[in-house]
Amino acid sequence: MAGRIPRSFIDDLLNRVDIVEVIDSRVPLKKKGREYWACCPFHGEKTPSFSVSPSKQFYHCFGCQKSGNAVGFLMDYDHMEFVEAIESLASSLGLEVPYEKGSVPARQARDTFEPMFQSMERCSAYYQQQLKQSQVAIDYLKNRGISGQTAKTFGIGYAPPGWNNLEGDEKLLIETGMLVKKEDGKQYDRFRHRLMFPIRDRRGRTIAFGGRVINPEDNPKYLNSPESTLFHKSDEIYGLYEMKKTVTNIDRIYITEGYMDVVALAEHGVQTAVATLGTAINNRQIESLFRICKNLVFCFDGDAAGNKAAWRSLEECLTSLKEGRLARFLFLPEGQDPDSYISEFGQDAFEQLADQASTLTQFLFQKLLAECNINTLEGRAQFLDRLRPYFGQIPLQSLKDQILAEVEQRLGQKIDGRMLRLLGEDRPARAAPARLPEQHWTPTRLAINLLLKKPALANSTGTHHELADSDIPGVDLLLKILDRIHDEPEISTQNLLDRFRGDAHETHLYKLATMEPPVENEENLERMFADCLQSLQKQYIDHRQKRLITKLQSGEGLTEAEKIEHRKLFTNQHRESS
Ligand code: UTP
Ligand code: MN
Repeated sequence: MAGRIPRSFIDDLLNRVDIVEVIDSRVPLKKKGREYWACCPFHGEKTPSFSVSPSKQFYHCFGCQKSGNAVGFLMDYDHMEFVEAIESLASSLGLEVPYEKGSVPARQARDTFEPMFQSMERCSAYYQQQLKQSQVAIDYLKNRGISGQTAKTFGIGYAPPGWNNLEGDEKLLIETGMLVKKEDGKQYDRFRHRLMFPIRDRRGRTIAFGGRVINPEDNPKYLNSPESTLFHKSDEIYGLYEMKKTVTNIDRIYITEGYMDVVALAEHGVQTAVATLGTAINNRQIESLFRICKNLVFCFDGDAAGNKAAWRSLEECLTSLKEGRLARFLFLPEGQDPDSYISEFGQDAFEQLADQASTLTQFLFQKLLAECNINTLEGRAQFLDRLRPYFGQIPLQSLKDQILAEVEQRLGQKIDGRMLRLLGEDRPARAAPARLPEQHWTPTRLAINLLLKKPALANSTGTHHELADSDIPGVDLLLKILDRIHDEPEISTQNLLDRFRGDAHETHLYKLATMEPPVENEENLERMFADCLQSLQKQYIDHRQKRLITKLQSGEGLTEAEKIEHRKLFTNQHRESS
């Protein structure tokens, strides 16, 4: 664990950071009087009641009463942990977070680790080449029904027996955990005589491996790379990169428990499966999956352990259940996992089983009803009491209403004030009608919304392809739209929307098209659009600058191209702020 961050550093950070900048790059703000305003990103509203005070450096929403400082904003808006939020603010100021007890920062910019990535890539290539030469490994894969094509997609390889096969920079190999260093200074290959599954990050770079024994007597069955600067187990999702690369219309994501589940499902035509890496899934992972697809099916073995894992996933899901998102729970027959099931019964059977997966409400009730005897008065109170913490975390009113309806039905009793209090709700009567979909106004969303309103806006701007090399969510869609309009400068809104028919983004686009931007009249559309692009440009420049700065700070020199970029980036910013 990382050590404590000194209070003085946090104070200093909060004195230096500008909350207006922090929020504005995520939620475009408009100055009105002394404060800045926007529609509140934390509750749906049409007229701005979210204010940011540059003098007091905090935000406050007059609608939902939420308020906080820059750190709090990042934690709520970007779902960051406290340390993460501090890291993020510090790095935006080019500061290094000091940790007491001399421990390492939780997260570092990854780009300084290029040599480590390269070292991992060489290992992966070596294992894949070894697989081709090992009859034992080939037979093993064949027995498990995995074709050469699928093995290739996932970069599956083979680590041969022997203690010293890996070649290359030892320091890097030790840092990434590929070599184990003993106390006596001797070192040996961590993975021996194992089938190797590369774990890739979202950009396809190999950051770790999982190795499965080939010889059933060996232990442990799966050996994973240790945590390293490249690999944070609880942030990664196995199969995510491969899925996004192969499938354009992701309409359902299966979350499984194992490497082989992902690979076998893909082999049998289900290419939208991922897995966590031998740990319980957490809310951050669920959030990233929901951002890709609103329809998640969690798959579990039909045994007690599977049931327990399913319940933990449900708990991690709750706060992410926003408009349109659906989480379901699939329990496989006892003794089966997705791999064995699909291998035995095929794709159709698996998908049909998934169609019948329990909804979150069903699973929730099934579990709680099994624990309480609702035929007694105490049992009913106990039931509501057990339901309360789960119910309270759900942000979506329509889902809460659905649960209340289910409670009425199960208990055979109308919801009254007392029951609502037991559920932690102090509303007087029946739940209010569902709120509008909750939406954050980000510069990307607003730009898309404006383009959908008036496509010609795109003609005043370039293609902005450079933005593709940033981590700004949704920017890929924005670039697609800009390209479209550049190809057909006079395209109408209806036609533009129609170009995305059947596209993974279609529903999202329609939703964005129907949203009403914060303040709007014909004249300021241009201005707002320009602001959005400028804000994205700024995020992009920050992103690139941070990369270059980290590289410089690490003592590594810049390449010629990077030096030119460095000069350009810093001059740009100068021009902007003057
Ligand atoms: P399982 O034991 O369910 O294995 O582990 P599996 O996925 O069915 O694999 P096969 O079919 O026997 O090859 C599920 C996941 O738990 C982690 C791995 O990530 C594995 O994919 N695990 C399991 C370990 O990390 N270490 C182990 O020793 C076992
Ligand atoms: Mn299995």
